[in-house]
Amino acid sequence: EKDGYPHFMLKEIHEQPTALRNTLKDRIIGDTVDLDNMNITADYLKDIKNISIVACGTAYNAGLVGKELIEGLLRIPVEVSVASEFRYRNPLVDDKTLVIVVSQSGETADTLAALRESKRRGSKVLAITNVKGSSVAREADFIFQTIAGPEIAVASTKAYSTMLLGFYLITLYFGQLLGKEMPKELYSGLKELPILADKIIIETEKQIESLIKPFEGWGDSFFIGRGLDWHVAEEGSLKLKEISYIHAEAYAAGELKHGTLALIEKDIPVIALATQKDVYEKTVSNIKEVKAREGYVIALAQEGDTEIGKSVDQVLAIPKVPSLLTPILTVLPLQIISYYVATSRGCDVDKPRNLAKSVTVE
Ligand code: F6R
Repeated sequence: EKDGYPHFMLKEIHEQPTALRNTLKDRIIGDTVDLDNMNITADYLKDIKNISIVACGTAYNAGLVGKELIEGLLRIPVEVSVASEFRYRNPLVDDKTLVIVVSQSGETADTLAALRESKRRGSKVLAITNVKGSSVAREADFIFQTIAGPEIAVASTKAYSTMLLGFYLITLYFGQLLGKEMPKELYSGLKELPILADKIIIETEKQIESLIKPFEGWGDSFFIGRGLDWHVAEEGSLKLKEISYIHAEAYAAGELKHGTLALIEKDIPVIALATQKDVYEKTVSNIKEVKAREGYVIALAQEGDTEIGKSVDQVLAIPKVPSLLTPILTVLPLQIISYYVATSRGCDVDKPRNLAKSVTVE
């Protein structure tokens, strides 16, 4: 059932182009996203004052990207909460709030409790979920189904990338319902992602020896980036921690100098994401701060970036897409690096210590 792969995680990493293709299927027609089967009406949406995204772990990290998309393109205020905090906080949600819960399994206890609390307060709930007929799917008012197929490995991979895709499609669809002009290049860009995902997976595996070498012997590491890159850095650091047990911190690159730089020592592995055009120069200057302290920097940059190589130790080129679409591509090398770092240390990546696939306790 592993199709010849040594682990489910590696199989699922490689299934992402297909998972993305299946999740896109029949949902973009020309320059229009069709999610009519969610049954959300324009009248309901026009009446909404804010959106609250609630989830745990990797699904929460997907929500961080979701917030940027919705706020950036729709200008609706969005809050993102960890489900275990949300439910005990007297959350600010009511009948003018759309709550979006994100859960691969649809059975995570904290997420389910947050869903119920939101409904009790009068909010309608949209679930982005992968498992059909799950508790979350049954209790939500609206559903966006990711078509990732069963995810067996504890570390989430294809669920994350398809959740991200869900947020793109939902944002564009809401924009259409609200009569807002959505950037046309996003529609064609989304359709290209499955092919580009395949490309970056192959490219990363080609370079894998040199990409994992810097982690040898290290118990600490950093992931940095700005904007969307920062949120993907969060997911990369979670992935590395949970399966390799290497301590990893994700930082907004501009925040390093407010304390964290003290931890940058000679040769410590730092993965820097630098794909966001509008903050590119700023990110590069943060990378230089790390290099000045002799950290070992692997940069993820957009293809055609001939500058960044001068400031870092290694570069992995990400196929060119609009800045807003990079997360689905940048996360792939981070998953692959985590996988190979972990297996090179002899870790059982499919069953990391102390973790369960579906957390049904609070
Ligand atoms: C990380 C991971 C967990 C889950 C989290 C939520 O790789 O798998 O962080 O993302 O437990 O699970 P779901 O999405 O099933 O609610």
